[in-house]
Amino acid sequence: MKTTTNLQRRNLLKYAALGIAGAVTYPSWAQAVEFARVNAPSADFLPDVEIELTMNTADVAIFTGEKTRIWKITGKIITGPSGVLDNNEGTYLAPTLRFKKGQKIRLILNNNLPAQSILHWHGLHVPANMDGNPMYAIKQGETYIYEFEILNRAGTYFYHSHTHGVTARQVYSGLAGLLIVSDDQEQALNLPSGDLDVPLVLQDRSFDEHNQLVYSVHRMQRMQGFLGDQILVNGRPDFVLPVATRAYRLRLVNGSNSRIYKLAWDDDTPLTVIGVDGGLLESPEQYPYVMLAPGERLELWMDFSKRTVGSELTLRSLQFDVAAHGGMGMMGGGRMGGGGRRGMMGGGMMGGGMMSISTLPSGSDYPLVKIRVTKKEQGNNTLPKALTPITALQVKNAANAANPKTITLSMRHMSALLNGRSYAMNDIQPDEIIPVNSLQLIEFDNGFDGGMHGMMMAMPHPMHLHGEQFQIIKREVNLRFNDSHASVSSGFVQSGWKDTALVMPGEKVTILKPFNDFKGLFMYHCHNLEHEDLGMMRDFIIN
Ligand code: C2O
Ligand code: CU
Ligand code: CU
Repeated sequence: MKTTTNLQRRNLLKYAALGIAGAVTYPSWAQAVEFARVNAPSADFLPDVEIELTMNTADVAIFTGEKTRIWKITGKIITGPSGVLDNNEGTYLAPTLRFKKGQKIRLILNNNLPAQSILHWHGLHVPANMDGNPMYAIKQGETYIYEFEILNRAGTYFYHSHTHGVTARQVYSGLAGLLIVSDDQEQALNLPSGDLDVPLVLQDRSFDEHNQLVYSVHRMQRMQGFLGDQILVNGRPDFVLPVATRAYRLRLVNGSNSRIYKLAWDDDTPLTVIGVDGGLLESPEQYPYVMLAPGERLELWMDFSKRTVGSELTLRSLQFDVAAHGGMGMMGGGRMGGGGRRGMMGGGMMGGGMMSISTLPSGSDYPLVKIRVTKKEQGNNTLPKALTPITALQVKNAANAANPKTITLSMRHMSALLNGRSYAMNDIQPDEIIPVNSLQLIEFDNGFDGGMHGMMMAMPHPMHLHGEQFQIIKREVNLRFNDSHASVSSGFVQSGWKDTALVMPGEKVTILKPFNDFKGLFMYHCHNLEHEDLGMMRDFIIN
């Protein structure tokens, strides 16, 4: 494995900028474009699956009437079975990719957008130069070739643009899709499959009177993160899922820019959670509601076998307190938010509806997915008691067991910071160097320490780390935040493998993360995409 030094990275950037290419031509179905390769496929990599993905502008019929201009990724299978790709035609969703653990994948990414871009495989454990770091962004007319083996266990992963400063806008325009991995262990469980295995991508968007996407983020909206006026599921407004009287596996993905969901069934049936970001849990767990932040995934098992044909059930997002009430100084003002239509942002300068520009404020109560039982069907509806074994990581095995790496989360003025720093390429600090093949104890502090960091503007931050999945060790909350925290505290799934952890105001979340196999740059950042673009993103260098 190559070590990427600062110098080498600079050279890579230069290389990418020059667009050195073998000028191999691939036909494009949208229009004949010759794409120039910025990197070469390796001769000794024999892919089981090879897919060409082309990013283009497109117009799709999301609503009746005028079509919506979006950025669409369209895939074409070069090698591999037809089941590996579903282009999700007619929506802005990028293709759904279905891979198996152990498969060698080559993805040929052509950029035909009027902007530079790069895709990142969220949750996958791949080499640094295959991870879609912003430094690999390609311009219109260029091609980036990804080659990696699927090392991850079965799970619901996804992929999206990771372009410096414009990730939020690009994801919003359509550059995000699902990447589902299966493996033998999972297959042996005979969980609901085929029509009974349903991915549900949750997103919010705003449209103008011509059905065009609206993405205008002024000052305060950028600090809070973009919030759309309506919910789309799998890229469709007014989504209804027809089901049979069977048990289903529902794979929920929060693909929103900044919106956090507090998921619950509207008839108070508990949520049966079978999986999270990095795949299945050891055994099913029940929750009254579950928090799902941008970048997080959740697998639910839901049995409709006792329901009557014609009945309906809705997955809702319930009310919760978005910002903290426990702060001091500027937060002041005591309890202002807490429900209903206004004042969702809590106390002080963030309160009073000042930031609730969306007609669907964050933390309000609204329907997400409507499910309608449409037919009777017989079949096996039993939920296995044991899912897949997970080895618990041990704090004592961490290279820094006695000295956790603390990352403070803060927002001030027009910046969102990690340990007081903003994102910059080529800016690795000593505390961002991690030895390869080490286990690290990391804590995300969002105002838990009582310092002014989190207190100035206490906001939720879904913290995501590239590379291998991690485990959550503990979640603590500063007493001052108890009130606001009570509205979310029963909704955290702490077990299983994770790549994104929601850190609420006043919280400190401690994780154990392995940094195995691959050297190079791996990012850590807030997955509120407006925060990410505001600079709440940094690189670790693994060496
Ligand atoms: Cu899903 Cu670095 O991102
Ligand atoms: Cu990621
Ligand atoms: Cu954030």
